[in-house]
Amino acid sequence: MSSSSVAMRRGGVVLLAVLATLAVILGATRSGAPTAQAQAPPAYRDASLPVDQRVSDLVSRMTLKEKVGQMGQINVEVLQGDPSTPWDRGPLNPDLMNDVLNVNQIGSILSGGGAWPPVGDDGKAWADEINTIQKFALDHSRLGIPIIYGADAVHGHNNLFDATMVPHQVGLGATFDPALAARLGQSTARAVRATGVTWDFAPVLDTERDLRWGRSYEPFSEDPLVNAALGSATIRGLQGRSLDSPTSVAATAKHFVGYSAPDSGFDRTNATISDQEMQTIHLPPFKAGIDAGVATVMVNSGSVNGEPVHASHHLLTDVLRGQLHFKGVVISDWQDVENLITKYHVASNMEDAIAMAVNAGLDMSMIPLDAGSPDNGFVPNLLKAVADGKVSEARIDESVARILTLKFRLGLFEHPFVDASKANAAVEDPANRKLARKAAGESLVLLKNDGTLPLSRRAHKVLVTGPSSDSPTNQLGGWSVAWQGAFNLPPDIPIPDVTTVREGVQQAAGPGVKVIWKQGAPVADTTNRKPDGSVDPTLPQPPDPLNDPDNPAVAAARQDSVQAAKGVDAIVVAVGESPYAEGQGDDATPELPLAQARLIDDLAATGKPVIVVVIAGRPLVMNHQLDESAASLMGFLPGSEGGAAIGDALFGKTNPSGRLPVSWPKASSQLPLAYNEPGKPYDPRYPFGWGLSYTRFDLGKPSVHAGKASVIVRNVGRRAGDRTVLAFDGGRLVGFTRVHLAAGERTKAWLALAPGADGVVVR
Ligand code: BGC
Ligand code: BGC
Repeated sequence: MSSSSVAMRRGGVVLLAVLATLAVILGATRSGAPTAQAQAPPAYRDASLPVDQRVSDLVSRMTLKEKVGQMGQINVEVLQGDPSTPWDRGPLNPDLMNDVLNVNQIGSILSGGGAWPPVGDDGKAWADEINTIQKFALDHSRLGIPIIYGADAVHGHNNLFDATMVPHQVGLGATFDPALAARLGQSTARAVRATGVTWDFAPVLDTERDLRWGRSYEPFSEDPLVNAALGSATIRGLQGRSLDSPTSVAATAKHFVGYSAPDSGFDRTNATISDQEMQTIHLPPFKAGIDAGVATVMVNSGSVNGEPVHASHHLLTDVLRGQLHFKGVVISDWQDVENLITKYHVASNMEDAIAMAVNAGLDMSMIPLDAGSPDNGFVPNLLKAVADGKVSEARIDESVARILTLKFRLGLFEHPFVDASKANAAVEDPANRKLARKAAGESLVLLKNDGTLPLSRRAHKVLVTGPSSDSPTNQLGGWSVAWQGAFNLPPDIPIPDVTTVREGVQQAAGPGVKVIWKQGAPVADTTNRKPDGSVDPTLPQPPDPLNDPDNPAVAAARQDSVQAAKGVDAIVVAVGESPYAEGQGDDATPELPLAQARLIDDLAATGKPVIVVVIAGRPLVMNHQLDESAASLMGFLPGSEGGAAIGDALFGKTNPSGRLPVSWPKASSQLPLAYNEPGKPYDPRYPFGWGLSYTRFDLGKPSVHAGKASVIVRNVGRRAGDRTVLAFDGGRLVGFTRVHLAAGERTKAWLALAPGADGVVVR
């Protein structure tokens, strides 16, 4: 056992003595003291009573320490394995559980970055682990208060190797399809809840601003209206009609607010945001999410205009509660209370940091590592802050009431456990696969086509090649099994079952077409992660030597591919990024790595038509390679069925309909680049909303009436297809809709318009 955990344990004992005394004093002065109630079944246990009545009854029975424990959230790894190895994911350790759930009465646990159970990582393993933690918590809670368990299910139940992963949010942005987002929310919630997780840290409602930022694939788009529509649809899907349904989870609107606009382009740094930009770009998606009833909000780890958001009473109370009328639970991001001391230097010790955040408006702190050590532990320091008069007990009661309201609404008091034997079936439901394929299909953006696509008739022999042509990890991106992505997994966790591009093309091609595959270039780490895992986002090229086109191994793989290209009718080359999450994905120059650029160049030099498929979290600067391609297709981290959807699109079994949710730059020097940034030159390679089809649509002249626009859409080509219609007013997107039309068909499309829109232009 490490000295720090001994200290933590010892601190807990001392604290317990102090608290026991405190509880006696408090208990004696309070009318609802526990002993007085021994006979009657307490009101909070009565599921027929309204939630607010149950909450106030329960709060009145709780000691201060029990309340403070509810305001903390601890990472599951703190409960697992050997305490001397901080990130050990061994078996649940009763001593560690005792410290967190009994001594410190912590009311919430999370799987940070997908932290998996001790053995295996399937639905049943998750359900078993969470049930065990829940049982321990209930056995050690005087009043029988269940824990609430949180995880990041941000594209399906993505932390489980056996889950179906759907496109990341930027891919959903490309679909412009809120109904699809709602269905995905439902299917994710069903899988998540079946594993005992009742709180999903999704969706991301940040408005994308800067492709240099390592999280730019997590928002839906650079447009607030799209984010509001897809975000609120996702929330409705996740939360369902009632949170206590076995197919609903609590959603989280994150990261409030301004997280996506760091001046430097690097994660968790300061964002300078004018009032105007705050109101028009950043707040509207959160307002829509709150209006859709989102249960929780997570705070931005960064600072806005120099003030750390976790300490901002203005943003967390005046704006979030006052202006947006949010009534639910506000949770911090990872270690961000501590960051007020260590990173922002606005507090000098834990007691002050907690007081600052709680007084600013925080309800629950994702601590996430230290529940009870005297120096930095959450519980003793919040107790101290109350004892020292820095936080009022009324303020504590307010937060605890919100947290308990959520637990009652989720039905956790009545149904704290899940049936672990049913978890795998929910997670592995084949219906999820079908939906994932549909979502991936709608998310593909056809960037360019000289007529080479679809491949159906002319191609008899096709070469599939490139580092992302047969790579589950690249297709899934970050937040897939592990925080940074599905690589370097421990031996007991299989690589998720993914249909890769190679397999998808094979399936779609059918018997008349010969498909050959060559790797073409090794799967390289394309991030600026150094071998020790740290990052230098300003490195001009990724440090992995496999990105060097002149590396002999790289040159040999390329030669092999070029040789194979000689006898084929068409070449499909899948390039892009390897997975990353958060700061590890920051990149001052998000450009196609040189080894991949050279592969495309050499393939193009054969004179055969080259179809470039980009699989990445963001548009990559690659002008020359796009120029020399016959056709190019963008796949925004399309997930488990991404390769199947790409195969379908290349062979015309589906018709691409995605439109770019983010601008595609010509040069890194243009970044940050967004279509809705007034006063900045806008000269992208492909603009916001760009996306081609295999058919042709004609749009009539829109007419606007009573907050709606109508426009006649005609499919004047020879194939069926979906058409997303975008309406702009004064350069700003004010409405959109998606229609399906058979060849030759026409329809009148209706678009609900943002308030104030009149002279609309449709595209
Ligand atoms: C991320 C959040 C996430 C949390 C828990 C943080 O680092 O910023 O988006 O919900 O970790 O994994
Ligand atoms: C990241 C979190 C992640 C955690 C656990 C932290 O450094 O910020 O997002 O959940 O590590 O892996």
